[in-house]
Amino acid sequence: MREIAIHDLCKYVDPMNLEKEWAIALADDGRETNGLTIGWGQYGTLWSKPAATVYIHKSRYSKHIFDGAAYFSICYLKPEDKPTLNYFGRVSGRDEDKIAGCGKAFVTDDVAPYFADSRVAVLCRVMGRSDFDVNSVDAGVEPWYQRAGVHTLYHGEIVKLLVSDNA
Ligand SMILES: Cc1cc2nc3c(=O)[nH]c(=O)nc-3n(C[C@H](O)[C@H](O)[C@H](O)COP(=O)(O)O)c2cc1C
Repeated sequence: MREIAIHDLCKYVDPMNLEKEWAIALADDGRETNGLTIGWGQYGTLWSKPAATVYIHKSRYSKHIFDGAAYFSICYLKPEDKPTLNYFGRVSGRDEDKIAGCGKAFVTDDVAPYFADSRVAVLCRVMGRSDFDVNSVDAGVEPWYQRAGVHTLYHGEIVKLLVSDNA
């Protein structure tokens, strides 16, 4: 993969189409690596940094790993990798080691792990974490929180952007 300028991200990822595009967010807390398929997120500017926010529900096994990690990655895969996106979105790391089970190669010597053959890999440094106040959300959002637990927002500074050679 090759590194490109962070401001070129939107040439490769449509920020208004994330729920259709899907990605896998990965983190390593020094003890274990895990990831989950994500459909929500934002790219933009936060605290005067190029920023990415991902939303991880408290029920996800990944949550405690993201809580203990200083960095995370957001990986967009190639069209033929749809089974990997389904696997990371259907199976929990609580039940299976998805990193071993997916059969894919990972880059592990950068700030955060990422799929070696990602179409796009966005590497982020955690600037902050926050939880929704369920009492503050409007009626349209409440149905998302009928069961216990809210999403935690992980606010990352984008520190590196990598694309595959033929992305
Ligand atoms: C298309 C798609 C998008 C998803 N988006 C999110 C998301 O943005 N945040 C989240 O917490 N879970 C999301 N999920 C659910 C998790 O990927 C799923 O629960 C996963 O199994 C959690 O894995 P873990 O328990 O190993 O963390 C999504 C699932 C799919 C299939």
